Amino acid sequence: MSNQRKLKIGLFGFGVVGESLYHVLQNNTSLNAEILKVCIKHLDKKRNAPTDLFTDNPELLLNNNDINVIVELIDDADAAYRIVSSALSNKKAVVSANKKMIAEHQTELLGLQKQFQTPFLYESACCASIPVIRNLEEYYDNDLLQGISGIVNGSTNYILTRISEDGLDFNSALKLAQEKGFAESNPALDIEGIDAVNKLTILLTHAFGIVTEPGTLVHTGIHQIHEQDARFAKEKGYEIKLVAQAKKLEDGTIAAFVLPQFLKKDNQLYNVKNEYNGVIVESGLADKQFFYGKGAGGYPTTSAVLSDLSALRYDYKYEYKKLYNSAPTELSHDFYLRVYVSFDKLYNVPHSLFEKIEEWSSNESRCSVTGILHFSKLAENDWWKQKNTSIVLLPDAFVEYVPEKREVLEDEFVI
Ligand code: HSE
Repeated sequence: MSNQRKLKIGLFGFGVVGESLYHVLQNNTSLNAEILKVCIKHLDKKRNAPTDLFTDNPELLLNNNDINVIVELIDDADAAYRIVSSALSNKKAVVSANKKMIAEHQTELLGLQKQFQTPFLYESACCASIPVIRNLEEYYDNDLLQGISGIVNGSTNYILTRISEDGLDFNSALKLAQEKGFAESNPALDIEGIDAVNKLTILLTHAFGIVTEPGTLVHTGIHQIHEQDARFAKEKGYEIKLVAQAKKLEDGTIAAFVLPQFLKKDNQLYNVKNEYNGVIVESGLADKQFFYGKGAGGYPTTSAVLSDLSALRYDYKYEYKKLYNSAPTELSHDFYLRVYVSFDKLYNVPHSLFEKIEEWSSNESRCSVTGILHFSKLAENDWWKQKNTSIVLLPDAFVEYVPEKREVLEDEFVI
């Protein structure tokens, strides 16, 4: 697509982000972009735009030779994949915000981009307004990048903030996040950490050239966090945040997961509140750099969609440099973490899985243990996902050295 050509857009979806994009483009002529047609599911629903703009027939966009860009902003990941693959096969550039679809279909989408040499941009799919994908793609050389760690889901961060600052209960805080348009239409995707792990899957590709399936990464959300965990955090001066993390280990392999973490004040993510996201990028030479911005909501997401549209005007494509031009990097389960786990019953504590137990406490309703776990104990078994169990990483959770395994005596756990 040359500089001279106008962007003629076929838009799929007219929800929070689709409608924001429409209004922004109406009022901004400098981008030289126009929405020619909008495909929606429910034609009878009243929209804040002229009726003749809308259709429910995707072919009117996908087979329209005047349209040179498809912007896909729908909710249904399967339908989104059909739209995006058809558009790329028709050599139409595509901009998408659908993290679930991208994470679940990375291999096929990489193949289509290669085969049809067509740009497919999705900056808005990770951390909305924060330009993290393009920075990871363009700026950080693979050898220098040591890790990324981020709050990548706005809804869960909003919920945690409302609980911690206003004393709201979980369901009221979730309801507010839904009302503000931050949450997915199925909010389980947010609160169970699925949205965050989808985003981590995408970031892994651009940061380290690792293509993996989101379901295979260790992840959970904030739905199992217990009042006792919040009390523990308060006592110690920590904040609980849902963090997506990828870290290069000494042998060059990568540790990656999405887990709640207790953060100390000196962690930049500590002060990331409400629907804001934050990403710390750690590189060998520059040390830590911090990206911060709104991670959910119509206009913040639209800002990234617009930035992708603008990049299309100079034929920008992701080159996937880390994937295609560097030595392959692999994920590892061979590392240790300092964790806090809380349970409803003392006899549920799987203390034999710990390499070392550092502290434990219990009362009639809840008990908790802190100690060192080998990551394989989380990756290869889901005891920690059982009902009434919660896990939170302790600050600076990666442990380089682990003392010799000691026997845990049963009577240590007798009240
Ligand atoms: N539900 C998502 C979030 C929307 O809360 O982060 C932005 O991806």
